[in-house]
Amino acid sequence: MSKLKVFITRRLPQVELEQLHEIAEVETWTERQPPPYSVLLDKVKQIDGLLCLLTDSIDKQLIEAAKSLKVISQMAVGYDNIDVAAATARGIPVGNTPGVLTNATADLTWALLMAAARKIVEAEKFVKAGQWKTWEPTLLLGADLSGSTLGIIGFGRIGQAVARRARGFDLKILYYSKHRKESELEQSMGVEYAELDTLLSESDFVTLHASLSTETYHLISDRSFQLMKSSAILINTARGAIVDELALYRALITNQIAGAALDVTDPEPISMDSLLLKLDNVIITPHIGSASYQTRAKMAQMAVNNLIAGLKAEKLPNCVNNEVYEQLE
Ligand code: DGY
Repeated sequence: MSKLKVFITRRLPQVELEQLHEIAEVETWTERQPPPYSVLLDKVKQIDGLLCLLTDSIDKQLIEAAKSLKVISQMAVGYDNIDVAAATARGIPVGNTPGVLTNATADLTWALLMAAARKIVEAEKFVKAGQWKTWEPTLLLGADLSGSTLGIIGFGRIGQAVARRARGFDLKILYYSKHRKESELEQSMGVEYAELDTLLSESDFVTLHASLSTETYHLISDRSFQLMKSSAILINTARGAIVDELALYRALITNQIAGAALDVTDPEPISMDSLLLKLDNVIITPHIGSASYQTRAKMAQMAVNNLIAGLKAEKLPNCVNNEVYEQLE
């Protein structure tokens, strides 16, 4: 019997592939840049399993061309690059990697928040440029965390992990999410629910942890910045397109808010023409929220496990469209 065929769109870190090799012929894209769309479109015509990343556009056209595809396994928790409805319509399960990257992403959020609050990046540039001449009472002043208010937008696993870290720094914590959490959870975590406008106007730090959808696209807009404090700092480690970046630029140059720290942009990578790159009060990192050795290894293994399950026609351990199984019942 001929082996199943699998395409993996990039080299994976520290992953156990033996079980996969037993059942499938595996082709891995080894270049640093993702496979171009045309290459991917061609590949999917011949494969049974696809392991992809958030940099691959898995759209309707591609899914419809993938006649023998049995599983799409994404090495990420977010899957806004995949047309899940098109996959579901074809009965193809889509896997993701929730949970294992929660702490790493919350840690990076915290690192960015503190770096922006205390101007770490500016301070480091200042020293390396030879500008450190003396201790000055007004040099590089930032914001206190203690006693400030943190507004968390999106209160799933990562939002909650950020809230746990905030308690150690004595912040008041507001959160907004589509569905309010049970009061027991709010009490045990020491957080208060707030409507979005209230959260924006009362927070000193606003951090985004929602997934990208038609509802959250440009959720943070000109209007949001008008509501925010002029001393506020925006942190985004979720998805770039949740923020209208031109509105953010306008807010920063008119001092509507004090600063921003972004691990995600729209598009990615950020265009070198982006006006945001010219501002000192913006920190930008290249989507490294989950980039720790242990976390990336766990994500890769989870993605491989989802892929193997899909190839064996077993339920994926982590599936975003469980409806595909209901269709079979
Ligand atoms: C995800 O998993 O969705 C992150 O953005 C990448 O780690």
